[in-house]
Amino acid sequence: MDKLVIHGQRPLKGRVQINGAKNAVLAIVAAACLADDVCIIENIPKIADIDNMLAILRSMNVQTEYLDEHTVRIDSRTMVNCCADSDEVRNMRASYYLLGVLLGRFKYARVSFPGGCDFGVRPIDQHIKGFEALGAEVDAKSIIEIKARELHGTNVFLDVVSVGATINIMLAAVLARGTTVIENAAKEPHVVDTASFLNSMGADSKGAGTDVIRIRGVQKLHGSTYAVIPDQIEAGTYMVAAAITGGDVTVENLIPRHMEAITAKLRESGVKVYEKDDSLRVISEGIRKKPVKIKTLPYPGFPTDMQPQMMAYLSTIPGTSIVNESVYDGHRFRYVEQLKRMGANIDVESHIAIVDGVTELVGTEVEATDLRAGAAMVLAGLAAVGETVVTNIKYIDRGYERMVDKFNNMGAWIERVHENQPIPIHHRERAV
Ligand code: UD1
Repeated sequence: MDKLVIHGQRPLKGRVQINGAKNAVLAIVAAACLADDVCIIENIPKIADIDNMLAILRSMNVQTEYLDEHTVRIDSRTMVNCCADSDEVRNMRASYYLLGVLLGRFKYARVSFPGGCDFGVRPIDQHIKGFEALGAEVDAKSIIEIKARELHGTNVFLDVVSVGATINIMLAAVLARGTTVIENAAKEPHVVDTASFLNSMGADSKGAGTDVIRIRGVQKLHGSTYAVIPDQIEAGTYMVAAAITGGDVTVENLIPRHMEAITAKLRESGVKVYEKDDSLRVISEGIRKKPVKIKTLPYPGFPTDMQPQMMAYLSTIPGTSIVNESVYDGHRFRYVEQLKRMGANIDVESHIAIVDGVTELVGTEVEATDLRAGAAMVLAGLAAVGETVVTNIKYIDRGYERMVDKFNNMGAWIERVHENQPIPIHHRERAV
C-alpha cells in the first residue's frame, strides 16, 4: 500500500475542480439496474468505491463500460443474479442499495451485510422496517435474504433520519403497486439526486429534499442519461484545506447551497467565503481565526462526514472549540488519537470533543483510520511544521479522485510513495 509524504506550511493558492458526489453515484449506479434498459451516468468520480460497486454489478452479469473518464454505460438487461456476497459487498457501505434494487426488480435479494468505515454500530433496522412494510419477508442473520410475492405501497415512518434507509426504501418502492410515503426522510443532496435520477427513468416520486417523500409505483422504468451532482464533502474538504493553510482557494464546480453549513462555520471562524454561481472562494491568508462550536446533524445541518476535517482545522485555532458528534457515537472520534500525535490538544468525552487549539501542529507518522479521518490527516499535514507521513491511504482512495494532484496544483507538496520506499531525499532537501 502507498503512503503520503506531506511537507506542510505551504498556503494553498489557486483553483480546484470538484468531481461527482460519491454517495450519490453509489446509489445511482445501483438504481440504474432497476431499469431493464441502458443508462448512461455522467460525472462519475474515479474512486475505488465506484470501481468496487461496478465490479459487484458485473458479478451479477450487468454490463458496464466507461465511455470516457467520467461516464459509464450500464446495461442491466442481462442481469441475472440476485445474490451478492463477495468481499466487495462486505467491504462497502453502499452495497446495501443492492437490497432495494434487487427487491424492487426481482422481488428477491440475497446480499451480505454491508461494511464501510467503522464509526461504531451502524444498524440497518430502518431499511428492513421499510422493506417489511412494503410486504417483504426479511431474514437477516449471517446474510440478508429478502423475498416478496408483491410489493405494495405503504407509509413508513423512519425512527432515525437515515440516508441509506430513505434511499433504499425509495429504490424498492418505485416499482411497487400503489403509493409509498416515507416520513422523517433524510434530506441530503444525494437523496434528492437519486430521486431525480429515478424520475428521469420514469419513476414518480415527489418531495425528495423535504422530510416527506411520496412515491407512486410504476410498472416499468426506462433507460436514462443523467449527470450526477458535485460532491459536497469533497468540496468541503478543499474549503477547509484553504482555511487551515492560510490560503486563497476557489473551489469550482460545486453547488453553493449544499455547502451552507460548512460555509457558515468557516465564516464564523473568521475566514472569508465569497460565493459565485458554481464556485466558492475561501480566503484565509493573514486572518486571525476564532474558535467555533459544531454539532453534526442530518442535512441541512453540519455533515458528520466533514467532522474530522473540521476537527483538524479547529485544532490549529487558539482558544476552545467544541465538536458535538450527534449522528454517530463517540467512535467517530477514533482518529483524534492520530491528531494528538501531531500535537493537537483534544479531550473526548463520549460524543463531545473539546479542542484547545495549539499554535502549530508538528509533522509525524499518522494513520488514516477511515475515509474522512484520512482527509483530516492530510489537512493537518498541510498545516503542520515539517514532514507528515500518512499511512493506510486506501481509505482516501475510496473517496477522493486525484487528491494529491489537486493539492499539488495549488502549491502543496505531497508525494505518494510505496509503503516500503524510503522518503525521497530530494523531498527532504527541498524541505530545508
Ligand atoms: C450515509 C453515508 C455516510 C454518512 C452518513 C450520514 C453513504 C454510502 N454513506 O451512511 O458517508 O456518514 O450517511 O450522513 O451514503 N441508523 C440506524 N438504523 C438504520 C440506519 C441508520 O439506527 O437502519 C443510524 C446510524 O447508526 C446513524 C444514523 O442513523 O447513527 C444515520 O445513518 P445513515 O444516514 O443511515 O448513514 P448511512 O446511510 O449508513
